[in-house]
Amino acid sequence: MTPENRIFESNAINCNHASRTISHGGLVSFPTETVYGIGADAMNEEAVAKIFTAKKRPSFNPLIIHLHDIDEVEKYAYLDGISRRLGNAFWPGPFTMVLPIKKNSGISSLVTAGGDTIAIRIPRNAIARKLLKLFGGAIAAPSANLSGGVSPTTAQHVAHEFGSDFGDLEMILEGGSCTQGVESTIIQVTKNDIKILRPGSITVEDIKKVTNHPLYIKSEKYSPIEISPLLISPGLMKSHYAPNTKIRLDAADVNEDEAMLGFGKNCPSGAQDFRNLSPDGDLHEAAANLFSMIRELDQIGAAAIAVSPIPMAGVGIAINDRLERAAAPKEKSHEKIIKKQALNR
Ligand code: TXA
Ligand code: MG
Repeated sequence: MTPENRIFESNAINCNHASRTISHGGLVSFPTETVYGIGADAMNEEAVAKIFTAKKRPSFNPLIIHLHDIDEVEKYAYLDGISRRLGNAFWPGPFTMVLPIKKNSGISSLVTAGGDTIAIRIPRNAIARKLLKLFGGAIAAPSANLSGGVSPTTAQHVAHEFGSDFGDLEMILEGGSCTQGVESTIIQVTKNDIKILRPGSITVEDIKKVTNHPLYIKSEKYSPIEISPLLISPGLMKSHYAPNTKIRLDAADVNEDEAMLGFGKNCPSGAQDFRNLSPDGDLHEAAANLFSMIRELDQIGAAAIAVSPIPMAGVGIAINDRLERAAAPKEKSHEKIIKKQALNR
């Protein structure tokens, strides 16, 4: 079977089949409004283990669980008043909260990497919601790319990501291009503040409208508000979302052996190939195009991908976060960790 043959139209029969596949311990890729996920039954340890194998993901990196409805959250986690308010404001949507996990939640310890918190998201995408409704439980799902690579925003990206080595991924539900394009905002409410563990399209400004709780974001550079020491989700390694081609940021000019990823009207010309994230300078359009344009430019064998400066405001903060990780030198340590884990198994 070719990778493309695993893509299924998201009609009622196929969604039912996808739900049953997950119930039986299989893996299904499905669209969300951010990126495509690769999902398994979060209560089934063996099924969750298949995700880590398929993605070559280090097992210390926990997963997000996806639910259909805010009423289900308290089966798995404790919701304090502020988290509840944020959940009511941003769910369903591109928003994930790290919450204290309940004992006896039944969630596989691989999902939490053995920790005492759990990341929960209620997506808005209609196909994701249909699948969650049919399945009726928690679906653990990271982005459907090989660990450290570029997140997929189309079903075809998922197919190409896994190539012929499809392993346990049984089907990909077709949902077109993801409308938001960068992964969900991840936050954690603590006693004194709200920490933004990963910026996304729900912005600091959006959160400020819901609560006056102090907000911390993981680097001073990103923060229009307070500054905190380095705060990261365990999986947010410096090099991530990385294509094979080198990325050159804040490019004011471009060489003829480079590809250009522009933004706005005045982009330098003369590149080997060219894409514009948003000719009108719309950051939401840029976020939606980001990963697919990086993938396209990664194919042409250019010396580097030169990227125009992106304004550090609103969802621009998330775009810059992903671009910086894509530009960071690939950490040998990442591969070393995975090899070491494989040896220890
Ligand atoms: O938009 C998204 O969030 C997509 C779609 C599929 O929902 N999912 C996604 O999952 O981006 P993933 O696994 O690629 O990224 C999840 C991030 C990782 O950096 C992981 O370390 C962090 O969430 N994370 C998961 N559980 C956590 C926890 N309990 N505490 C802190 N960080 C956590
Ligand atoms: Mg990911």
